[in-house]
Amino acid sequence: MENLTTGSNTCLVGLQWGDEGKGKIVDILTESFDVVVRYQGGSNAGHTVVINNEKFVLHLIPSGILRKNKWCVIGSGVALDPGQLLEEIGELRKKNIEVSGNLRISELAHLVFPYHKKFDELSESEKGDEKIGTTRRGIGPCYTDKMARNGIRVADLYHPDHFRQRLKKVVEEKNKILVRLYDAEALSWKDIYETYCEYAEQIRPFVCNTVVFMADAVKAKKKILFEGAQGSLLDVDFGTYPFITSSSVTAGGAAVGAGISPRQIHKVLGIMKSYTTRVGSGPFPSELNDALGEYLRKKGGEYGATTGRPRRCGWFDAVAVKHAIMVNGVDSAVLTKLDVLDEQRTIKICVGYTFGDKAYDLFPPDLAARSECQPIYKEVPGWLRDTSKMRDRNDIPSQAKNYIDTLEKILGIPVEMLSVGPDRGQVVNLV
Ligand code: IMP
Repeated sequence: MENLTTGSNTCLVGLQWGDEGKGKIVDILTESFDVVVRYQGGSNAGHTVVINNEKFVLHLIPSGILRKNKWCVIGSGVALDPGQLLEEIGELRKKNIEVSGNLRISELAHLVFPYHKKFDELSESEKGDEKIGTTRRGIGPCYTDKMARNGIRVADLYHPDHFRQRLKKVVEEKNKILVRLYDAEALSWKDIYETYCEYAEQIRPFVCNTVVFMADAVKAKKKILFEGAQGSLLDVDFGTYPFITSSSVTAGGAAVGAGISPRQIHKVLGIMKSYTTRVGSGPFPSELNDALGEYLRKKGGEYGATTGRPRRCGWFDAVAVKHAIMVNGVDSAVLTKLDVLDEQRTIKICVGYTFGDKAYDLFPPDLAARSECQPIYKEVPGWLRDTSKMRDRNDIPSQAKNYIDTLEKILGIPVEMLSVGPDRGQVVNLV
């Protein structure tokens, strides 16, 4: 563990389309950090951590909460659904996990309201076959309001007159669209106001100026872990637009969403799964629409932690991951779910794409517009052995070592750790 975390504030980012196993790795790393910060996304995220066979699924609260005496911060870049947050706090407390002074919420975070969820749902239905396949948690509409300057932030909750006026105005405007455009029912701003005033009281103990909190943490030389949600290929700028989420997932987004100088991020650690998955619509060149895809889904338990939707599965796409490595400035990586490939005789790595008669080894910005994209594969032999009980790097089968070496060579970064199962203990340090 020391090698992964020595002396630096670290940003942990997913290098694929999310669900790379970030929750488990954050939980492991947190042992060596003082502060864990979520900087973007919201309850669309689903981070699963298994500790001694007990499963925890976190959506909004940083996975660091599962360790004692760690600060967990929800930064200003997060789209905060207070109802969901309180539910999550309740679930954690039921499992005897402490959530009190160790949780800090930015007063600058934008709030998710019921109309955001409604618009998420209606906009998806309207799109029909072109739908993004969102989690319907209202995340896109919340960020849309933020940028359009129609958002309402946590701090607004504590000025009841101002909040009431602003909410009334916003809801009246939303109702015009709901009723006139979508033929849907109008929402009651009064009901929303009352509910959110109650939420405000319940979350009050956690709310603070996280900019000052983070600055103090830096001054006190606390070690900070930035916990990315979703994956780089879902980033609003660098992902497979428009099939993306609405936030800046990448390491650059960490400085903005946590309210901290980029100079305070010393290391970027990428998390990548040994194969690829994607939930929702959008391009996926190495997707397996066959029995093997189905096998990976079953063996890997590839069902959305937030929506329960089956994830699309395919081979490791090195072209896409190389793009993510560039965008994030990744220093090194953790390779997860190696054990899911244990029974494969041959393993494929996507190293390029063909479009008609042209071959590319760079990730194209217009992938969503290129339906004719075909993957070019490099094949390596499988290891046909159970790796889930492996804890020492000397126990890695030679073919698995060859798979890892091949990925390192193609990607140009070292793999520092392997994850070989869902439990906290199922890891192998490579350095
Ligand atoms: P939204 O973030 O709910 O707007 O969904 C936009 C796209 O991002 C959809 O394809 C979702 O399935 C995907 N997405 C959002 N959050 C996650 C996540 O945590 N893991 C994987 N996919 C996600």
